[in-house]
Amino acid sequence: MQYQSIGFIGGGRITRIILTALNKAGRLPEKVVVSDANPEVLAHLQKELPSVTGAGDDNAGPASCDMIFVSLHPPVMAEALGKVKSSIRPEAVIVSLAPKLTTSMLSNVLGGHGKIARMIPNAPTIINKGYNPVSFSKAISAEEKAAILSLFSALGDCPEVPEENLEAYAVIAAMGPTYFWFQWQVLSDLARTFGLKDDAFREALSKMIKGAADTMFASSLTPAEVMDLIPVKPLAEDEETIRSIFTTKLSALYGKLKG
Ligand SMILES: NC(=O)c1ccc[n+]([C@@H]2O[C@H](COP(=O)([O-])OP(=O)(O)OC[C@H]3O[C@@H](n4cnc5c(N)ncnc54)[C@H](OP(=O)(O)O)[C@@H]3O)[C@@H](O)[C@H]2O)c1
Repeated sequence: MQYQSIGFIGGGRITRIILTALNKAGRLPEKVVVSDANPEVLAHLQKELPSVTGAGDDNAGPASCDMIFVSLHPPVMAEALGKVKSSIRPEAVIVSLAPKLTTSMLSNVLGGHGKIARMIPNAPTIINKGYNPVSFSKAISAEEKAAILSLFSALGDCPEVPEENLEAYAVIAAMGPTYFWFQWQVLSDLARTFGLKDDAFREALSKMIKGAADTMFASSLTPAEVMDLIPVKPLAEDEETIRSIFTTKLSALYGKLKG
């Protein structure tokens, strides 16, 4: 089976990321309909992806597609979905991209709709290298699941995971890049002032980051042994502060998403 039309309720960042990846992989269905409350956001998306049909702020347009991505922030989701539930066909698959709202909450808001998937994508999806854990409701058949996962394979890795773990993935893997990207930007700026050319520091940094990740997560060394490999640690006296910031802020965020 194939999903001939896909709709996106909300045309912001994650919609652009997913559509860019599908487009690069040559997997954009013929009919893609996107709605958004903000006309500028839709105009920006359509400039990059002219084959996308804009539905303005009418969420019923995307809601009538075969597969409907819900790309809204959790506080506005229930109300927005409640308003378009009559446009959603029983065989359509809803793909929620938001944390916090469970499959059962979404089904209730949608008057008992059964076919619901939840995915927590991450931004490297934009270059088809995302890590996008997904869970499926029981009403989705094996055949439907295979078709959905086939489409999602264009986005990167999409492992099926227990639904109750999705908020953990949201804090660790979806928001994860934001904990590191600004630090890599500082290192890039410094590298330039130290006289490295752009190509040189890009290669040095990206190889250092990939190698450091493999040493931590794909070697036989323990984390303590890994961190003991380098005796000189210029940020050592700040590490405790940084650990405490991570622990305090991310635990609070996780609690909020699960609350
Ligand atoms: N970005 C990521 O990397 C990422 C990763 C994983 C999960 N997600 C999830 O994806 C969801 C969307 O995130 P995002 O990053 O795409 O946010 P975003 O860039 O802020 O996009 C959300 C868009 O939805 C619009 N909107 C608000 N209410 C609406 C309504 N009732 N109907 C139609 N459009 C409406 C917003 O317009 P206004 O700004 O005018 O309100 C905004 O343009 C969130 O639940 C987020 O947790 C995002």
